[in-house]
Amino acid sequence: MKKVLSLCGSARKGGNTDLLLREVARGAEEMGASVETIFLSDLAIKPCTGCTHCKSHEECIIQDDMPMLLDEVLHSSAVVLASPVYMGQVTGQTKIFIDRLYQLRRGDRSLKVDGSNIRGAVVATCGAPSHEHPQSALSTLRVLFRFLNQPKVLELVGTSLGPKGIVQERTGLLEEAYDLGQRLAT
Ligand SMILES: Cc1cc2nc3c(=O)[nH]c(=O)nc-3n(C[C@H](O)[C@H](O)[C@H](O)COP(=O)(O)O)c2cc1C
Repeated sequence: MKKVLSLCGSARKGGNTDLLLREVARGAEEMGASVETIFLSDLAIKPCTGCTHCKSHEECIIQDDMPMLLDEVLHSSAVVLASPVYMGQVTGQTKIFIDRLYQLRRGDRSLKVDGSNIRGAVVATCGAPSHEHPQSALSTLRVLFRFLNQPKVLELVGTSLGPKGIVQERTGLLEEAYDLGQRLAT
């Protein structure tokens, strides 16, 4: 059975990012996949200290939930990483997770894992109406798949999504999320 792992970088449960991810999950489950959703804010993920231990060793020296999370990622057939735009970028908890992916690359810049069989998608939500606005956050989200050696990444962008739950009024966007879930599960 395919397993879709959904990583939510928003701490706002029932918020726009969460609701879009629920539609992604519905689409994937409809295709027979199992879906696990994790809120990054529910985990203990400490910031990278830049010690560079990971450049000469396989593991990161920091003891927290990151090894468990990476294990979940590597045992998934598809991963979707989502974040709202906060001050022009991904949320703090999402960036802390992304920084910690530094451990997946050796000192000679070779990758320690091959996730090229893992389907990938990124989702960004923001209050601004412009499609350009979330581009910087999207490129940060894509780093996960770069470090997994997966160049093909699907994308979903929700603009003009200020108030909590307003995405429920955007049927086209919810449909896009559902379709994304179906594509990740095929
Ligand atoms: C601290 C904070 C910073 C934000 N910064 C931006 C921003 O820079 N650009 C933008 O378009 N929206 C910004 N927003 C709006 C959120 O991106 C938007 O409300 C999004 O839908 C929130 O997702 P959520 O409902 O999943 O929490 C910000 C919201 C918060 C709380």
